[in-house]
Amino acid sequence: MKRKSDELFILKTYTTKSEEETIKLGIEIGKRCRGGEIIALIGDLGAGKTNFVKGIGKGLGIERLITSPTFVICQTYTSGRLILYHFDLYRLSDFSELEDMGWYDFINSGGVTIIEWADKIEEYIVSENLLWVNIKIIAENIREFVFSSEDEKMSYLFN
Ligand SMILES: Nc1ncnc2c1ncn2[C@@H]1O[C@H](COP(=O)(O)OP(=O)(O)OP(=O)(O)O)[C@@H](O)[C@H]1O
Ligand SMILES: [Mg+2]
Repeated sequence: MKRKSDELFILKTYTTKSEEETIKLGIEIGKRCRGGEIIALIGDLGAGKTNFVKGIGKGLGIERLITSPTFVICQTYTSGRLILYHFDLYRLSDFSELEDMGWYDFINSGGVTIIEWADKIEEYIVSENLLWVNIKIIAENIREFVFSSEDEKMSYLFN
């Protein structure tokens, strides 16, 4: 069952004009994370998902450079204020692969879970602390970020 967009509150919309601005946006949100957030990213190839994750990592105080974990599905970063689990589901063929990895342990860990290509497992992502991030390519260097959630309380992640 696909989620109906009218069940979601749009919490915030941002437009970034460079990679650096996208990282900055991620930093601000990373700083506000309290633990337990599931941040589900949806956006085409090159939309800026990984750059946004880089910012979240910096905002959590992670010094290690975050790169795309394309070949491992999940990369774990433990050096920040909260543990960060970075998933890239581009090559995922079936949700059972994630279940086998202990998916529900990740999302209930109290860390911050961020998922590239989250639309591939949309119906399995259920959490009280879920933030959807739709990233649209507007022009070469311009990206539109729409942040939405079923729960308005997630607005603590923004100004
Ligand atoms: N405003 C912007 N925000 C983010 N990236 C931008 C922006 N403008 C241009 N870019 C460029 O777009 C690309 C985004 O790459 P990034 O790896 O973050 O995307 P992605 O969505 O993770 O891609 P993939 O689907 O391959 O994982 C980079 O080359 C970056 O320099
Ligand atoms: Mg990426």
